[in-house]
Amino acid sequence: MATQIAQIIDGKLLAQQVRDEVAVQVEKMKAAGKPQPGLATVLVGDNPASKVYVSSKQKACAQAGIESFGFTLPASATQTEVEGLVKELNADPRVNGILVQLPLPGELDEERVLNAISIEKDVDGFHPLNIGRLAQKGRDPLFVPCTPAGCILILDKLGVKLEGANAVVLGRSNIVGMPVALLLVRRNATVTICHSKSRDLPGICRQADVLIAAVGRPEMVRGDWVKPGAVVIDVGVNRIDDPEHPKGSRLVGDVNYNEVKEVAGAITPVPGGVGPMTIAMLLNNTVRAAQMAHA
Ligand code: GUN
Repeated sequence: MATQIAQIIDGKLLAQQVRDEVAVQVEKMKAAGKPQPGLATVLVGDNPASKVYVSSKQKACAQAGIESFGFTLPASATQTEVEGLVKELNADPRVNGILVQLPLPGELDEERVLNAISIEKDVDGFHPLNIGRLAQKGRDPLFVPCTPAGCILILDKLGVKLEGANAVVLGRSNIVGMPVALLLVRRNATVTICHSKSRDLPGICRQADVLIAAVGRPEMVRGDWVKPGAVVIDVGVNRIDDPEHPKGSRLVGDVNYNEVKEVAGAITPVPGGVGPMTIAMLLNNTVRAAQMAHA
């Protein structure tokens, strides 16, 4: 079989386009005398990865002209304290979007916290009502989760026809796998969701015109799992040991990039693929929340 070199999708560039457009929208609001859009971030505990993600989100807000309000609670915070903060933020007119960074530590009940966020400020799209609407025909969520929305935007920018396409999603997480599968169904793709109990993953993946990997298993998807010409979106961010690397470790996705790029039609790299899109879509949701609040 002739090998093919995949188009490498530049997620940074696509994300910058979204961020530039968000900045334009913010300027328009300003020019119309509307208040500056605001995002509140809530970080509970001191998970190092979560800290990095939250600080990148705050930086991106500043660059787009969105004010960010950072709240940190100790890992020992109670359910009542976390929900109490969310309720204060619901009532604060300077805050248009509320982002509670997941996962929450310890015994905190994530569903109850997410349920406490006003759906008009649910810029992560994780409120049960927004997710429920995403799953139902004829209903529309106010906000769609950011990483899944970023995956779909990448596919749209590539000009991939989703209607009738075989889409395979590896992973069924609340944050990525399930909502991206729901978005693909809404776009009339034929969707297969795979998980740890699925039989013959390579065989299922080989049917995919669009393959989305979001399982958190470093380099799991091998070259011979991919149909020649397929579009492969790698959502995984895994740190693996690499003595050759100056840091002693490096980031890899859920896809074996070197193998799959020889087979796929297009592929997102890690880093620099889906990751930057998540933040861009968050900014986009936040400016939309502000526009709705001040319509
Ligand atoms: N943890 C991993 N991804 C996300 C995300 O998109 N939003 C929030 N709030 N937490 C996350």
